[in-house]
Amino acid sequence: MRVLMVCLGNICRSPIAEGILRHKAAAQGLDIQTDSAGTAAYHVGEAPDSRMILIANKNGIDISDLSARQFTKADYQNFDLIYAMDQSNYDNMIRLAISDEDRQKVRLILNEANPGSNAEVPDPYYGGDQGFQHVIDLLDVAVDKVIERIQVNG
Ligand code: 4NP
Repeated sequence: MRVLMVCLGNICRSPIAEGILRHKAAAQGLDIQTDSAGTAAYHVGEAPDSRMILIANKNGIDISDLSARQFTKADYQNFDLIYAMDQSNYDNMIRLAISDEDRQKVRLILNEANPGSNAEVPDPYYGGDQGFQHVIDLLDVAVDKVIERIQVNG
């Protein structure tokens, strides 16, 4: 199973979503390929935001090796499940889809924990440290549900 996490800049929310999934998959011995991307190109080639690296570490998760890239149409071929952190990321990816198969791969990640809520992972970039921890807390719960989906559906 190949899972892609997507936000705007690929330096705050989607790298920690990838880091949490990678951490849990390894702990449970699951064969899941993970990656993350941003719908924008502002931060391509950069490491995750230093605040997120630090707070991730405090939560036992290392994302310091990750590097930002932009989402492309080819990701529809390369991934089975594609998770948007917010509605704007979702809309941007749907615009690049060329088939229903593509569109069906894209989901709002918090709908895994709260189906139909269409809740968004708030962008912590312009806020304080507690915003980063809040993102981790939301994604911790949602990623457990992602793993449950993968285990049920193979
Ligand atoms: P992310 O956060 O989408 O969670 O990586 C952001 C990072 C950078 C910017 C916006 C959001 N920016 O405008 O540079």
